[in-house]
Amino acid sequence: MVQLLERMKTNSRHFSKKSETSNTSNGTMAPLLLNSTWDYKTADTKQYTHCYHNYPAMMIPQIADRLIAMYGQNAEILFDPYCGTGTSLVEANLKNINAIGTDLNPLARLIARTKTLKIELQILDLYLKQFNDFGFALNFGQHDLNNVVVPTFKNIDFWFSGVVKTKLALIREFIANIVDINIRQFFYVVFSEVVRESSFTRNSEFKLYRMPPKKRETFNPDLFSMMMSKLARNRKGLIAYLNQTKGHSATTSVLDFNSVEEIDYIESESVDIIVTSPPYGDSKTTVAYGQFSRLSNQWLGVENAGQIDNTLMGGKRKGILKFGIDIADDSIDHVANVDEKRAKEVYSFYHDYYQSIQNVSKTLKHGGYACYVVGNRRVKGITLPTSAITQAFFEANGFHHTKTFMRNIPNKRMPSRNSPTNTSGETATTMNYEYIVVMQKD
Ligand SMILES: C[S@@+](CC[C@H](N)C(=O)[O-])C[C@H]1O[C@@H](n2cnc3c(N)ncnc32)[C@H](O)[C@@H]1O
Repeated sequence: MVQLLERMKTNSRHFSKKSETSNTSNGTMAPLLLNSTWDYKTADTKQYTHCYHNYPAMMIPQIADRLIAMYGQNAEILFDPYCGTGTSLVEANLKNINAIGTDLNPLARLIARTKTLKIELQILDLYLKQFNDFGFALNFGQHDLNNVVVPTFKNIDFWFSGVVKTKLALIREFIANIVDINIRQFFYVVFSEVVRESSFTRNSEFKLYRMPPKKRETFNPDLFSMMMSKLARNRKGLIAYLNQTKGHSATTSVLDFNSVEEIDYIESESVDIIVTSPPYGDSKTTVAYGQFSRLSNQWLGVENAGQIDNTLMGGKRKGILKFGIDIADDSIDHVANVDEKRAKEVYSFYHDYYQSIQNVSKTLKHGGYACYVVGNRRVKGITLPTSAITQAFFEANGFHHTKTFMRNIPNKRMPSRNSPTNTSGETATTMNYEYIVVMQKD
């Protein structure tokens, strides 16, 4: 394995930027060529309910679709242990496959659940009409804004102007009074995007950065129009989803569960296929899912919304121990040679990742496939071979490697330059490629 790491380094110099290596089942190195058929650069990634809500590092639906077609023929259950907004769950449902998803972020679960709901259009339209009347009255000053109960979470005034706060509170009250729980969720998902877009956040970034004062002074979002256009967009997506799933019996469960822990809600060896995209690294230094979702979660009444990133994979620092898996141990050693603290962060992530793979593996049937979409991020100038580490972790849990596809990370899904120091404006190149690692259980 040490050799493997050395070879990877040499090869990445040899092959142009567009090819890397992957070890084959017999241990030899095979060049890993960039396969642009997995890029889906011009594909419509917002079909069906995929249009509902933006989220960092979303999976491309076409990737989930293709993986299910290739490795999930006759599948009855798909599992996504880091389901985020439920891209792979929706894709399973579109093929009448039952789906189970877990995520620790309440906002992600709300979105994932809602995207797989078969909401009755007729009832939805009644509420849309009511909301239209409500918004009209709001815009024409017919609501008493003095009696609105505005939440008081920390820093609310830092992120929202007085008038936006009041209007958000009124809209939230309208939604809370919707009796039909599915439709209530449909509205909350739209509300969540409006929360973010009507805040002083710079919306071009996933992390929370405040607009400069000049922009704040003139920032006057029309919350009602925002709600209406998103409701209309999502209704259109829902109609497409309902048409496609007509007569289907597949069900979906979205659960609040930490994938690092032992899984007791799925029977062992009952899952046919896993299609997932785990976090690229710990949420503090890579993609801050909790931070992205914080304002929405706060408005939705989630307690400790500011702490979510600490609970995600790698969120708790651990002292470094050996895995006994060379490619992982060597990678952490390399980082430790440059920066011990960063090495601890990297180790903590891989520690949780290993445990998670161990637990998730047990749910899969023998012969079933685990498809992991991962990125090889850079830390302190060192590329961490998460794709090869994923393969090695699975191999240690009774799997063999089927294939790794290497693809370009498309434009805005994941910033190819991010802010690894968490300092606004400071960026560094992180990842340009993603790897789809396919493993089969022996
Ligand atoms: C790359 S995102 C998944 C995106 C998803 N495929 C989509 O299309 O929306 C990774 C997700 O893993 C979740 N996550 C991180 N650590 C977790 C853990 N220990 N248990 C469960 N979910 C976790 C994050 O909240 C995040 O939503």
